[in-house]
Amino acid sequence: MVSRIYSAVVGTGGYLPGDPVSNRAMVDRLEALGLETSDQWIRERTGIEQRYFASDDQSTSDLAYRASLAALEDAGLEPDSVDLIVLATSTPDMVFPSTACRLQHKLAIKQCVSFDLQAVCSGFVYALATADLFIQTGQARTALVVGAETFSRILDFNDRGTCVLFGDGAGAVVLKASDTPGILAHKLYARAEHEGILNTPGQLAHGKVCGSPFLTMDGQAVFRLAVEVLESSAREVASLAGLDLQAIDWFIPHQANLRILAMVGKRLQIPESRLIATVGQHANTSAASVPLAFDTARRDGRLKAGQTLMLQGVGGGFTWGAVALKL
Ligand code: UT7
Repeated sequence: MVSRIYSAVVGTGGYLPGDPVSNRAMVDRLEALGLETSDQWIRERTGIEQRYFASDDQSTSDLAYRASLAALEDAGLEPDSVDLIVLATSTPDMVFPSTACRLQHKLAIKQCVSFDLQAVCSGFVYALATADLFIQTGQARTALVVGAETFSRILDFNDRGTCVLFGDGAGAVVLKASDTPGILAHKLYARAEHEGILNTPGQLAHGKVCGSPFLTMDGQAVFRLAVEVLESSAREVASLAGLDLQAIDWFIPHQANLRILAMVGKRLQIPESRLIATVGQHANTSAASVPLAFDTARRDGRLKAGQTLMLQGVGGGFTWGAVALKL
């Protein structure tokens, strides 16, 4: 019998740039621009208490580099053992080369497969599923899967409805080929008819930025769709993995809003005690949110070897997806 190749998580890492920026600091920043917000509004509507912003001289690949080093150290592996880098981002260093190639260079990996993947806040889950397929088919043995963002660069600080919600950061996971699971199942989805509710429409053309380079969002429409698809994809991927939802130890959904997490938890009948929530401390870091939450909960001892996890992304595109895995 031909034995199946699985992808096992052998290391995680995270990186948040600089000092935390409190809601109070955002109130002051917005006040200077003539806009009103409050710590109470931000906390009550989102659960966010603070976020991190990269300094002007830090790029997405710099954040990715720090998270990747931590993940490789956790795995006990040298960068050179990596033969695949999949980096999810919507805020790349430049149009090209890819941020993944720039990360490869910073890690001094001589040769490997490196590419960026763009699925906005679903990016990390898309990247994890993609790397798993490379490993399952024998195209890679050791994959570095990264979600990294400098969303502060595309925030309009004159739009109080969006600028208080997002932050910068990076998270990374090292996958290794294994004859035991590992990743159990995944499914990815996109429904492009919803492009208009969350986008950054600007583009580079003829030496100029054409259109708005800032993120725009219909918050309530995103909220409703996010709740719906986080529920349906958790059910579908649990069933694909042959797991009862109630038997899954931990849910690590995209960290956009505590109210979204609470509503999905209620619909799936998952108690708060099995939901990892880092949005309060990190805000929404888009593609970095799931790996940062994963790493946080692994390092603080909540996640343990042998447990089952459901990782979920949802975001612009509209895209979403879920990965079920055994640690
Ligand atoms: O990664 C995926 C992307 N993002 C998301 O998942 C976000 C999903 N959506 C949400 O989380 C919520 O819809 C928001 C947090 C964005 C907004 O919460 P909401 O309860 O839907 O508020 P709203 O947009 O209906 O706004 C309510 C009020 C409005 O004032 P009026 O029109 O009622 O007078 C807004 O102008 O809150 C006002 N408002 C603010 N007030 C103080 C909007 N932003 C702010 C602010 N501070 N920062």
